[in-house]
Amino acid sequence: AKKAVLGPLVGAVDQGTSSTRFLVFNSKTAELLSHHQVEIKQEFPREGWVEQDPKEILQSVYECIEKTCEKLGQLNIDISNIKAIGVSNQRETTVVWDKLTGEPLYNAVAAPVSPGPSDPVAVVPSGSSVPAAGASSVWLDLRTQSTVENLSKRIPGNNNFVKSKTGLPLSTYFSAVKLRWLLDNVRKVQKAVEEDRALFGTIDSWLIWSLTGGANGGVHCTDVTNASRTMLFNIHSLEWDKELCEFFEIPMKVLPNVRSSSEIYGLMKAGALEGVPISGCLGDQSAALVGQMCFQDGQAKNTYGTGCFLLCNTGRKCVFSEHGLLTTVAYKLGRDKPVYYALEGSVAIAGAVIRWLRDNLGIIKSSEEIARRGGQSETHCGLGTPRRPLFYLLVNNLKKSGKKLAKEVGTSYGCYFVPAFSGLYAPYWEPSARGIICGLTQFTNKCHIAFAALEAVCFQTREILDAMNRDCGIPLSHLQVDGGMTNNKILMQLQADILYIPVVKPSMPETTALGAAMAAGAAEGVGVWSLEPEDLSAVTMERFEPQINAEESEIRYSTWKKAVMKSVGWVT
Ligand code: G3P
Repeated sequence: AKKAVLGPLVGAVDQGTSSTRFLVFNSKTAELLSHHQVEIKQEFPREGWVEQDPKEILQSVYECIEKTCEKLGQLNIDISNIKAIGVSNQRETTVVWDKLTGEPLYNAVAAPVSPGPSDPVAVVPSGSSVPAAGASSVWLDLRTQSTVENLSKRIPGNNNFVKSKTGLPLSTYFSAVKLRWLLDNVRKVQKAVEEDRALFGTIDSWLIWSLTGGANGGVHCTDVTNASRTMLFNIHSLEWDKELCEFFEIPMKVLPNVRSSSEIYGLMKAGALEGVPISGCLGDQSAALVGQMCFQDGQAKNTYGTGCFLLCNTGRKCVFSEHGLLTTVAYKLGRDKPVYYALEGSVAIAGAVIRWLRDNLGIIKSSEEIARRGGQSETHCGLGTPRRPLFYLLVNNLKKSGKKLAKEVGTSYGCYFVPAFSGLYAPYWEPSARGIICGLTQFTNKCHIAFAALEAVCFQTREILDAMNRDCGIPLSHLQVDGGMTNNKILMQLQADILYIPVVKPSMPETTALGAAMAAGAAEGVGVWSLEPEDLSAVTMERFEPQINAEESEIRYSTWKKAVMKSVGWVT
C-alpha cells in the first residue's frame, strides 16, 4: 500500500541518564507519531562513582532510530517525511574519545593495570582511583570531590571567579572537573592529548560527531546550553574561557566548536535516516523549557527525570542567584538569534530513588510484574524501565498492606526519606550529605518508605521553588511540569499539595524531545516548525489544584527540612 503523507515530520533523540529514546513528531501539531526507548546501563563500580559506556549509548540511539522507523512503516507513514533531527541529552556527562579511531578513551577496564610507559590504559597518579568498567563519567559521579577541594583552595582572585563567568558553583557536578580527572588518571587520555588525537565532549557532542560520520568527517560541536554546563564556558561572551581553561588546566584544542541550539550541524551518515540533517541540539532541561514554550521572562518548568530540574526563563539577562540556584544558558534558537538565560534549581535524585527502591532494596519489583498484575499499559517514562507501572506497583503495595491508596493516605506516617545519594544539589550544594530515612517506628512498613521516597521528590521541588521565588521576587503562580513521572496523577496531586500552588502538565509529557524537535524543525535551511502555539495543537493541559490546607502543607514541609539537616555532614 502507498504510504500516507502527513507533511513535515521531525525526529528527536532524547538521550537521558536512564534511557535513550527516539521520537517522531508532526511539525504542524506536535502530535507524537511513534517512538522507541532503550534502557541504559549505569555502573556503580565504587561508592560515589557513576559510569556509562558511550558506545552503548551510541548503539542505543541507532537502535531507537531504526525501531521507530520500523514502527512508522507499520503505521503506513513514509519516513522520507522526516526533515530534521534534534538531539537533547543528559548534560555534564563527560566523554573523551580518539578522533582517528572513534573509540572512547576511557575504556571498559575492569581490573587495575600496572603503569608502564607504553601501557595505554595505565592509571598514573599515586593514591588515585582505577578506572573501572564504563567509559563516561556521569553527572552524578562524586569521584572528583578531592579535585574540587584542591581547586577551591587555589581559586584566583575572589571566590566568584568561576561563578561570575559560568553561573555555576565549583562542584563535582560539572564537566570540567570530570575532564580534569580523566586527564590526571587515564594514561590513554593523556597520550591521545599529547598526540593531538583526543576530543572531549558532553553526550550531545559524542553523538553528533558519531552520527555525522565519526572518524570519517564527524562534526565536533556542541551547543551553547550544553557548553554552559561544562564550567569552561563564559556565559557572557558565549565562548570557551581561556582563564577557566588555564585554571582547570584543560587544553583548549580538545574542546568542541560551540554553535547555537538551532542550526544544521551535519547530516546523518548511516542508518534509516541517512542524509537527514541534525539541526537542533539542547541540553535536556533547556529542551524541556523550549518544549513547554517557556519563552517569556518568568515562565518556568520542572522536569521529573533521573533528577528534577526547575528552570525559570530570565530573558536576555543573566540573573545570579543568592539562594543556591545556577545561572545557565536557556537557549539560542539560531546563529543570529539572541541568547536567553535561565535560573536553574537542580535536584540530583528524583526518579532515581524509585529505581533504587527497585534495584537496590527490591521493595518494588519489576515493571513487567506490575504490568501483568495491574493490567496497566506500559508507558515509557524515562526511568529506564517504564516508570508508571513501577508506581502502580507502589500503589498496589499500599493496597495489599491494607492501607489506602497514596492519595487517600496522604502521609508516610512520619517517615521521611532524604535521597542525598550524591550529596545535596540545589539549594544546599552540600557534598557531605548522604541519604537518610528517618522517623521510623514499629508501625513503618515498606509502603511508607516508598511513599516517603515519592514525597521526597515533591519536597525537593518545593525547596527549589522557594529559592526561585526569593531570587525572582515574584512568586510563581503555578508550576508547569513534564517528564515521565508526571503521568502519575497521584504524584502530581501530592506535588500541588506540597507546593501549595496549581501544577499544570501537558497531555504529552515528552516535552524534552519535543523541544529538541522544535529547535531542529525551526533551523535555517529546514524551516518546518514555526515555534508558534498553533503548532502545538495536539498538546492539551491538565491542572492539579492544592487539596490540603496550607497549614498541613507547611507542617510536612518543615519536618522535611529537619530531615534534610540530619543528612548534612554525613561524610567529611
Ligand atoms: O544535569 C543532568 C540532567 O541533564 C540529567 O537529566 O533526564 O537524566 O534526569 P535526566
